[in-house]
Amino acid sequence: MPMKVISGTANVPLAKRIAEHLDVPLADVVITRFPDQETFIKISENIRGHDVFLIQPSSPPANENLMELLIMIDAIKRASAMRITAVMPYFGYARQDRKDQPRVPITAKLVANLITSAGADRMLMLDLHSQQLQGFFDIPVDHLYASPVIVKYIRTKQLDNMVVVSPDVGGVKMAYAYAKMLDAGVAIVNKQRTSATEVEVLNLVGDVQGRDVVMVDDLTSTAGTLTQAARLLKKSGAKRIFAAVSHCLLTDLGVQRLNDSPIEELIATDSIVAPVASSPKLVHLSVAELLGDAILRIHNNQSVTSLFRI
Ligand code: R5P
Repeated sequence: MPMKVISGTANVPLAKRIAEHLDVPLADVVITRFPDQETFIKISENIRGHDVFLIQPSSPPANENLMELLIMIDAIKRASAMRITAVMPYFGYARQDRKDQPRVPITAKLVANLITSAGADRMLMLDLHSQQLQGFFDIPVDHLYASPVIVKYIRTKQLDNMVVVSPDVGGVKMAYAYAKMLDAGVAIVNKQRTSATEVEVLNLVGDVQGRDVVMVDDLTSTAGTLTQAARLLKKSGAKRIFAAVSHCLLTDLGVQRLNDSPIEELIATDSIVAPVASSPKLVHLSVAELLGDAILRIHNNQSVTSLFRI
């Protein structure tokens, strides 16, 4: 079955890099809006019997990009593709994965249901907010980590007596995984969220005195979590402070906070298009080769395990 790579509008630069790595052209599609803002999609070439990889993260604007993904899957299915893999380097709504207050939805599950109902046969994702989200899908999920790309870069920094810090308790597993790869210690910042944009850091578990620090997290948005933790780390005697996230959703407020913080560099991947207001502290690494290699392996029914190694 021949392969076809199709991109929505959420992250065209990444899709182009993936297609370049695979040495295939992106399929010809028309994506427009009707005057009333409804989305119109037309696949302009034959994809009958193809193994289609549709690249469309649900990054901001989340609802627009999600709806575009669903409509594209429907168009591809009705064009008689043999198999559809939704490639979502960033899966939005992932943080709404539990009913932890009365009368709230589990939107991550709703989104998983929508994608499956639209007709996706498989998922290819990167650093989900939590591993358990894979279980929200009743179709196969290949879940990649950006860590091989990020660790390679961090090693070039030659940090001294390094400690990997999780800026919240939920990220401890991720911090341990990075610490193992970097042969570093681990520390944890305990935070409490007071609103969607504000966090309060409570205390630090572990020792960072006189040591270089790398904070790791799945994503940053308002940068409240990272910058508040960075201040506590500085107060606790940390030397150089770096932060690394898989998904950079930085808002204008986030960029401002990053610039004003003791963080030397924020390392992120291109799972999401770079923010309009950028920062000199922001370093973008590409996951195009990683995703491209995974696409090729899925297409050829080969194992993807080797992609987890550095
Ligand atoms: C929370 O569980 C996530 O892993 C991130 O720590 C959080 O969403 C980051 O948000 P912000 O940058 O707005 O503090």
